[in-house]
Amino acid sequence: MRVVSGIQTTGNLHLGNYLGAIKQWVAMQDQGECLFFLADLHALTGNISPQELANSTIEMAATLMASGVDDRAILFNQARVPAHAELCWILNGTARMGWLNRMTQWKDKAGKNREGASVGLFTYPVLQAADVLVYKATHVPVGEDQKQHLELARDIATKFNTDYEVDLFPLPEPFISKAAPRIMSLRDGSAKMSKSDPSDLSRINLSDDDDTIAQKFRKAKTDPEPLPDSFDALAERPEAKNLVTIFAALSDRDPQSVIAEFAGQGFGSFKPALADLAIATLSPVRARLNQLLGDREAVGAQLAKGAARASELAAPTLLAAQKAVGLQV
Ligand code: TYM
Repeated sequence: MRVVSGIQTTGNLHLGNYLGAIKQWVAMQDQGECLFFLADLHALTGNISPQELANSTIEMAATLMASGVDDRAILFNQARVPAHAELCWILNGTARMGWLNRMTQWKDKAGKNREGASVGLFTYPVLQAADVLVYKATHVPVGEDQKQHLELARDIATKFNTDYEVDLFPLPEPFISKAAPRIMSLRDGSAKMSKSDPSDLSRINLSDDDDTIAQKFRKAKTDPEPLPDSFDALAERPEAKNLVTIFAALSDRDPQSVIAEFAGQGFGSFKPALADLAIATLSPVRARLNQLLGDREAVGAQLAKGAARASELAAPTLLAAQKAVGLQV
């Protein structure tokens, strides 16, 4: 089992990233060889200043370490392992325009201004495929929003293996959290919690202090009804369902047991309980983060060490891909 996943170095890490991805990463460290990376090359496809990119790479690495990613895993930043970009270029010869044109993230991010979007934004999923295929990943722990990109990685792997008559790339399995596949915005139950939402009230950032966390849950959109006695009864109440899902995921409980505990109560009592739970989980992470950020060079050194190990693992696959296409004999 080889586990590979990444996180783009733009904006703040939030509770959606934590519950949908990072929590699984931490747990999977005991189950197989894990490589986790900061996707700084992917960040270049949007508008990001050099300073912001450099800072967020270190800050996000520190956040992952503070969340429990440790020496059992290989942690690095993508740009330090050139094999990702080199394999991406080879796979650009395999991926088809039509496949990329169907990607919902491309359609959402480019919007009506396709002509003005960066070429990198279009080929973004090919780099993502290279990220996992260069390590022959078997499991890729991600939130549900990345499922389509992983399916594309599987299509690229299949076409490459077929076109060049090799058995090089195993098909990577998306590994999606059952507890928190898609955490929604606190302001709109139909939109996912996202770094790019203009409203900071829509998300809990992992850097938010206790008061801010409590205030954001207090202001979270809900409805006037009390909580029912069954989780299924929340199907038409997306905001309420999201808060119960967050509670269950944070406490590693089944959503039905959470709803049974709060059945008949209003949000006036549920929200403070949820805020207390989130604070109890996140404040130790924040304390460790602040400590780690006191020595940014040490975080950078950790990434450099990870990059050296990752490069060694990537080299044979890149060489095999180069041989398959005739770039090496
Ligand atoms: P990114 O940086 O947007 O998100 C990082 C991880 O967090 C998950 N996630 C969520 N999960 C549940 N609810 C949410 N609201 C939520 N928001 C984000 C994402 O699904 C992801 O797992 N393209 C990727 C980064 C990437 C990558 C890769 C991932 C680059 N190369 C290779 C896996 C494998 C991205 O932008 O994720």
